[in-house]
Amino acid sequence: MNIVEAKQSVGHKGFLDIDIDVNIDLFAEIERLKKEKNAIVLAHFYQEPDIQDVADFIGDSLGLAQKAQSTEADMIVFAGVHFMAETAKILNPTRKVVLPDLKAGCSLADSAPAELFKAFKEKHPDHLVISYINCTADIKALSDIICTSSNAEKIIESLPPEQKIIFAPDKNLGGYLQKKTGREMLLWNGACMVHEIFSLEKITKLKVRHPYAKVIAHPECEEAVLRVADYIGSTTQLLRFATTDPGNEFIVATETGILHQMQKNSPKKTFIPAPPTNSCACNDCPYMKLNTLEKLYLCMEYETPEILMDEQLRLAAKKPIDRMLEISKAAGLIG
Ligand code: 13P
Ligand code: SF4
Repeated sequence: MNIVEAKQSVGHKGFLDIDIDVNIDLFAEIERLKKEKNAIVLAHFYQEPDIQDVADFIGDSLGLAQKAQSTEADMIVFAGVHFMAETAKILNPTRKVVLPDLKAGCSLADSAPAELFKAFKEKHPDHLVISYINCTADIKALSDIICTSSNAEKIIESLPPEQKIIFAPDKNLGGYLQKKTGREMLLWNGACMVHEIFSLEKITKLKVRHPYAKVIAHPECEEAVLRVADYIGSTTQLLRFATTDPGNEFIVATETGILHQMQKNSPKKTFIPAPPTNSCACNDCPYMKLNTLEKLYLCMEYETPEILMDEQLRLAAKKPIDRMLEISKAAGLIG
């Protein structure tokens, strides 16, 4: 199959559905393709362990955006979800950006449809819009500044205290930031399906069985879970805390993919995934986990599915991301 045929065959499936020879060494093949195509593999911490292990860079949303912006590779292979790959394309449009499965979306991004959000924004013309990076390019284009869980506090604090703010789309992160900064904000009513599923009751029971365990949580979790957390932060911040803290046991309230790096950095420590409300594997992000090593290999080989964007939309979405990067630089959060 050539590249044109491959692009056509992605169709409605969202990924290349081709049988791969079972004897093929996917790790070696991916390394070969990286060199042959001058490609870089960027992976989020929620990706499956094999993907993290072949990645050239693993990070949180802010780290990944920065890496995507600065890379000189010809092809960015984005092992993450759609809004992350889209951000890479927005920041570095001359590179080819591919995503192993185009259906790797995000429930949080889906909770802010652009038309509804536009109408909401128009009702509050005196408000500035800060949007969490987990949103579509259309929402970014309607925003004044983007933030991630690593820099949201600094972004809010960079605005004069009298400035009215709309915060979208995550109401949990927004609520957490209101408390942290003491700033009232108008919150869009969106949430992440993975971070809303943790059971406070089960975490409390776990704490009884593991009295020395520290609860560490992502700020997308509900307020009740955040209230019992010993530390709250982005995925990079959680990883740093788990690695440097003298404690030996941690109950981790975020997507389970992060445990791979935690365990790698601290093989002697115990990391317990915070339990969801029922017995499902709902603390695995179903979108992040659509990417597999097989799909990663195929998308590198055939250079598809590719992220393509309307140039006007790209430029409009870039403005608030650039503002985020400038504020983050001034605050010393990034180099
Ligand atoms: P981070 O930027 O903290 O990695 O968060 C990304 C995400 O999707 C959390 O659900
Ligand atoms: Fe979106 Fe939640 Fe998955 Fe993160 S964990 S990508 S916010 S659905």
